[in-house]
Amino acid sequence: ALHAAFYSALAGTAYISYELYRESNPLPQVAQSANFADGSPRKTIVILGSGWGSVSLLKNLDTSLYNVVLVSPRNYFLFTPLLPSTPVGTVELKSIVEPIRTIARRAPGEVHYYEAEALDVDPADKTVKIQSVNKDQEYTLDLKYDYLVYGVGAQPTTFNTPGVYEHASFLKEISDAQEIRVKIMTAIEKAATLSPSDPERQRLLTFVVVGGGPTGVELAAELKDYVDQDLKKWMPSLSKEIKVTLAEALPNILNMFDKSLVEYAQDLFKQEKIDLWLNTMVRGVDKTHIRAKCGDEMIEVPYGVLVWATGNAPRDVTKSLMGKLEQQNSRRGLLIDDKLQLLGAEGSIFAIGDCTFYPGLFPTAQVAHQEGEYLAKAFKKIHKIDHLKWEMSQAAEAEKQSLAVRLDKLQNDIEHFKYNHMGALAYIGKEKAIADVSFGDSQYKWAGSFTFLFWKSAYLAMCLSFRNRVLVAMDWCKVYFLGRDSSV
Ligand code: FAD
Ligand code: NAI
Repeated sequence: ALHAAFYSALAGTAYISYELYRESNPLPQVAQSANFADGSPRKTIVILGSGWGSVSLLKNLDTSLYNVVLVSPRNYFLFTPLLPSTPVGTVELKSIVEPIRTIARRAPGEVHYYEAEALDVDPADKTVKIQSVNKDQEYTLDLKYDYLVYGVGAQPTTFNTPGVYEHASFLKEISDAQEIRVKIMTAIEKAATLSPSDPERQRLLTFVVVGGGPTGVELAAELKDYVDQDLKKWMPSLSKEIKVTLAEALPNILNMFDKSLVEYAQDLFKQEKIDLWLNTMVRGVDKTHIRAKCGDEMIEVPYGVLVWATGNAPRDVTKSLMGKLEQQNSRRGLLIDDKLQLLGAEGSIFAIGDCTFYPGLFPTAQVAHQEGEYLAKAFKKIHKIDHLKWEMSQAAEAEKQSLAVRLDKLQNDIEHFKYNHMGALAYIGKEKAIADVSFGDSQYKWAGSFTFLFWKSAYLAMCLSFRNRVLVAMDWCKVYFLGRDSSV
């Protein structure tokens, strides 16, 4: 047994060292150029976004077959499933980001990256106008593309609820997580200066999350964990006064999960004393209060920190693109076909992830990731088709017939995108999670502490790089042994 343990540890160390070495020592890349060695043109793919969809494409694409240009205002990939753990410091922000430069540098062919945002897409001229995000070095450029992969994600929706932009925080980006952390710590420190009977102290210590989807639930759970597991040790009496509230417009939270799991989560919230306001539609927000319709009644409740998590809406650049294409008549997102081609763009634009709407596909990382993988495979075939078209343009008349047959076969060879739903997982607090998972044709519904271990392993496995995996695992160990940090 001792020998087995020794050799396993040795094998584990060798594996970790190999992976870390491989990740930090990329191989030489094929340079970009106008043509391949045989004279055929190398086409340009412009990829917009550095999120789940675009990065999954980039990781799987044979970039030596194209001139690949990536445009995103965010120069890193963000592992969103662990974002709710960051405001309270269960996981550090740096552990869940991967710089886009390192992802791009590991690709087989050179990738040009612009830290910029797309302002406008012109499908007729096959151009995208981009603008740098760095205000000190402002530039705008018109990028020509042969193929555009549109993966700009979505923005948080407020359903035009008054006051939300001014007073609430969202949970979508790193800056949001930092903002929430500052607000929480500031509210706690300010409350500590007031007497326990002061209503202002009670207001400051009321943390409200609006939206009982997985984002809101996971954040409420993390907030309560922080208060009960860490703050309690350092500020025992104040921590007892903190109220964590989750407001949801529908009769239940987590509506995409099985009913039994929803009940489990709601029961746990009750046990943990997270206030669950169901059937509560928040109608307005000011600096210190929210107004909500609770059943038939209008209520006004004071809050100290407010986080808004009520789902997604299309970005302005997406709305502008929709306006240019006749077939784009859905307000929920860009309409695509079953090969992820944007309707109305004649095969030159593909759209993936949260910016799209396709019946049966939800705005999740899982969908965006699989779409990126699918497109990478499709682009391999598209390259062959384009090359064959070029060969046809160079061939003698007699050869064209047989090449046309080959071309036809290749074109029919591009399969439709098939989504493989692996299930849904959510952390619900107190080291418990729920899982609605499918393996093949079998469906499993799990909840509890064992599911939390499954949740942890699944998210570790999903991390983009080995480096992220190590950092997240270290963060979890750190919190287990040393607790969370209470400074801003
Ligand atoms: P994103 O990942 O949002 O990426 C969009 C990219 O486009 C970003 O890099 C952005 O900077 C860039 N961009 C924005 N505007 C422009 C522009 N004008 N030009 C160029 N680029 C632009 N899903 C799950 O399946 N499981 C989970 O556990 C899970 N947890 C989540 C937790 C949170 C807190 C959140 C917010 C979401 C979670 N999701 C989860 C959903 C998942 O993150 C999204 O479905 C996924 O990120 C969608 O991928 P995407 O590539 O379409 O968009
Ligand atoms: P969501 O759309 O899933 O949920 C938003 C919730 O807010 C809904 O239940 C809605 O009824 C409620 N709501 C809307 N307006 C309201 C109001 N005014 N007052 C009170 N409640 C209101 O949004 P979420 O959680 O941001 O998720 C977005 C996407 O990301 C989803 O597709 C989700 O599946 C995915 N995601 C998945 C996670 C996971 O699998 N663990 C984690 C986080 C997000």
